[in-house]
Amino acid sequence: MKGAYIEECVITRVFLLEAGLLCLNRAHRSAMITPRIVMAKKMRIGILTAGGDSPGLNAAIRGVGKAALGFYQADLIGFRDGFRGLAEDRRMRLEKNTLAGILTVGGTILGTSRDKPHRMKVDGRMRDMTDVIVGNYKKNGLDALVCLGGGGTQKNALRLAQLGLHVITLPKTIDNDVAMTDATFGFDTAMGIATEAIDRLHSTAHSHHRIVVAEIMGHRAGWLTLGWGIAGGADVVLIPEIPYDVGRIAEAIQQRSKHGTNFSIVAVAEGAMSKEDARAYELAERRKVKARTDVEKQAAKLDLSALEAKHAGNTLRLAHQLEQLTHLESRVTILGYVQRGGTPSPADRLLATRLGTACADLIHEGVFGVMVAARGDRTEPVPLEKVAGKLKTVPLDHPWIESARRVGTCMGD
Ligand code: F6P
Repeated sequence: MKGAYIEECVITRVFLLEAGLLCLNRAHRSAMITPRIVMAKKMRIGILTAGGDSPGLNAAIRGVGKAALGFYQADLIGFRDGFRGLAEDRRMRLEKNTLAGILTVGGTILGTSRDKPHRMKVDGRMRDMTDVIVGNYKKNGLDALVCLGGGGTQKNALRLAQLGLHVITLPKTIDNDVAMTDATFGFDTAMGIATEAIDRLHSTAHSHHRIVVAEIMGHRAGWLTLGWGIAGGADVVLIPEIPYDVGRIAEAIQQRSKHGTNFSIVAVAEGAMSKEDARAYELAERRKVKARTDVEKQAAKLDLSALEAKHAGNTLRLAHQLEQLTHLESRVTILGYVQRGGTPSPADRLLATRLGTACADLIHEGVFGVMVAARGDRTEPVPLEKVAGKLKTVPLDHPWIESARRVGTCMGD
């Protein structure tokens, strides 16, 4: 920290601890805690949004911003298009009027990108821009950098925190796959959008006695498809965590036909796979990990790329297979980016605001190197080491899976 700051009197902190007024939970203690500082100048906070956009990003920017500007009298600078904006020093000053009216707006006013600090395409070639980013952080006199993002962003943020930057993150993604938080903002909105769509698919599938196979986003986690499948009453739910058997799905659909119901809704996660494909993936992944030579590694990588390319047409292939096995007409609906767009739901606005304001509190307390997680009605700082590189998939004994099975949903196994 620069000389302009005066460290908070340690005695004050000890006094508060003794008086039981300064309550740090375990996560606080294990996080990188720097003593709170009384500032001779205004605190300068940088903020960026990285990775795929999701509803609630603007609500979170507003939450951090309003608390930082209004409550803590700090300055706030936004960097455009994720880590690229910080590398290229493309900034915008965020004032109270910039934050007004954005609570309900979808997307992100800052723009976003999937660029990583250590692997960024610049002038046509891949470069490590980490040093440039550290330089720009210092040049802008930042006291903290807030990164709003999903799993990839948590990893990138950790790298910067390990270099000494005061980084703090918020968990966003429609996939709900960030570890150590009850929820991510964007998920609830995406579920709402998908549920509305499935309600509409029901009536057309029913009228035409068809199978409608609907593909849902979610990357490698099944949260969105499972939640949507239950809320929308899908007859079959296929998630990456449970590899499926096409024969079993066809049987379930035929059973419905036998009982006079000649239509079915199949909710399939973009990452869902048949048992055979899942096995092939696992083997290729294992080969990649075990590879001793560059040639072996390259061969395993090629196998994985081929499997990924094949997987791109998975939902269409599945619909075709089901049509052949059941003799019912099949149609495919891929919801795609509709799930990421538009105004956030009330639950996401609330979550984003709670996490955003808690983030401003933590910055004020000098707690960095953490992600602000949702824990029940509360929020808590979780060290980035515990989040980065970890994927929160649906546990096989999760109550949602149990509930789906209890209402007769075929999970494809
Ligand atoms: O992480 C959100 C998400 O929408 C995933 O569900 C999906 O797999 C991915 O992003 C799509 O990424 P992109 O926006 O880069 O196409």
